[in-house]
Amino acid sequence: MRTLAFIAPRKTAALLALIALAWGTQLVACHHQGAAPVQAAELKPIQLPQPEITAGIPLMQALAQRKTTRAFLDKPLPLQTLSNLLWAAFGVNRPREVKPGLGRTAPSAMNRREIELDVVLASGVYVYEAEANRLRPVAGGDLRGKISPEAAAHAAVTIVYVAAAKDGFAQVDTGFIGQNVYLFAASEGLNAWFYSLHGQDVATALKLPEGQQALYAQSVGYPPQ
Ligand SMILES: Cc1cc2nc3c(=O)[nH]c(=O)nc-3n(C[C@H](O)[C@H](O)[C@H](O)COP(=O)(O)O)c2cc1C
Repeated sequence: MRTLAFIAPRKTAALLALIALAWGTQLVACHHQGAAPVQAAELKPIQLPQPEITAGIPLMQALAQRKTTRAFLDKPLPLQTLSNLLWAAFGVNRPREVKPGLGRTAPSAMNRREIELDVVLASGVYVYEAEANRLRPVAGGDLRGKISPEAAAHAAVTIVYVAAAKDGFAQVDTGFIGQNVYLFAASEGLNAWFYSLHGQDVATALKLPEGQQALYAQSVGYPPQ
């Protein structure tokens, strides 16, 4: 399995595994905390495998291959690939030296990490809990067609970028994460498409609490055969 080799060295992987275990139960409160709808109770949290951070194609090749492709095969990603994808997007990549806490693969304004990644799979919608490397269910059922445009309605994964603010730093923070996703997809030979949400009632489908907004979405999956 390949991932982006340039993100972190092997020693850091072992360190991160320890940190994730130690910090896993002391998470920053997430936007959906305490607001899980009834259907989500039927879904179990998904503990993701440790991300593989020693493989992947060189950065310059990933950049050379990065592109938007608006077509997907209806086939799920292996759990390891999903873990690698979310880690590349906005995972924990280091302990922070200046301030206590954990660093992420994408920067965020004032280190607020205000973008929540809502991960839409065929089985339901989950919030990516980066520190615990876990997916927390928030809505059950296949909602892909309600969230994505037709061309991405069967993509293996759609990440919805959710934040309290719609403008300013939230837009910039989302852009950094979106580019990480594009580069990971290029590295893995997967298709990716970042898009605006026009008219879809994503907030209802995702059961977003009052004040939370879906800013953009990004679908990733295998190319059509
Ligand atoms: C902020 C933003 C919003 C976008 N919204 C859409 C969209 O609503 N629909 C779409 O098909 N593509 C959307 N895109 C993808 C762009 O159309 C695409 O990146 C552009 O055509 C360049 O193609 P490339 O990514 O292959 O280089 C968006 C990209 C960005 C950065």
